[in-house]
Amino acid sequence: MQRRRYARKKENRFTRLIMIVSIGILSMFIMDLASSQTPTQQNEIELLEIEPTQAFIKRSLEQLNDQYSLLLVNSHYPNTVDEEAIRLLPANKHIPLAAGDTMLEEKTLLHAKLFFQAASEAGISNLFINSGYRSRHQQDQLYAAASDKNYVAKPGQSEHELGFAMDLQLVRGGFDSKEGEWIRTHAAQYGFILRYPQGKSEITGVPHEPWHFRYVGQPHATYITAKSLSLEEYIERLQPGKYYQVRANGKTYLLYRVKAEQNRIEVPTEGAYQVSSDGTGYYIVTIHCDDL
Ligand code: DAL
Ligand code: ZN
Repeated sequence: MQRRRYARKKENRFTRLIMIVSIGILSMFIMDLASSQTPTQQNEIELLEIEPTQAFIKRSLEQLNDQYSLLLVNSHYPNTVDEEAIRLLPANKHIPLAAGDTMLEEKTLLHAKLFFQAASEAGISNLFINSGYRSRHQQDQLYAAASDKNYVAKPGQSEHELGFAMDLQLVRGGFDSKEGEWIRTHAAQYGFILRYPQGKSEITGVPHEPWHFRYVGQPHATYITAKSLSLEEYIERLQPGKYYQVRANGKTYLLYRVKAEQNRIEVPTEGAYQVSSDGTGYYIVTIHCDDL
């Protein structure tokens, strides 16, 4: 009798153990599935050359609000933007930060906030911004003090001087973690790209920096990330004179890259669009086709 009770107890314990192990395996599987799912799947996104149906008009650059979000800044294209042209805001009210005085460009901050909220909802609580906007003077000091200058841009050549870049930090863990994978997978959904990817240092001039994310806007970030491009390669891919349709996260956009003629560029007569100089002498126009 006692032996039978003992056997039943042992059997119950065994069943419980099997259940715990099964739940563990199942939740690992679900987490893997969630982290491998990208908002826009890689094979869905293409730059489709099209003939636009919109009506266009030429407007002077003074009338247009240059966003600078696609401005290329590197050793070949130094930053020439006036500091006053970019609206900087303190980030510490919205995002958990390492440094309380961190500033970011307005749109970058808005999207960083949404990105951090999503990260928190995904269970990531150890994510911080290590560095955001830096003045020319701060970049100068950083460059002078750096033991390895490959990882610090020369003053005047840093995206941090624009306020569009943020250096992320995962406390108690590196970027080769599940959290790092989540960041890489979801950054584009909020308009951010990994600016210095692995294997692109010949093009970017900077070694792989898994922490440095740059705001470029959602459709651009989605395409750049899906195609594993650097910002340099992406800008080169947008051929002047062509119009591209791109679908990102369920929305349709029309993009084109133009040079200003007599200080004027072609923009749609109506609907929502954004203009950003790209630093190479051209402007990139992004039309939000769903908001017409
Ligand atoms: N770490 C990057 C290259 C910068 O200093 O802007
Ligand atoms: Zn950085």
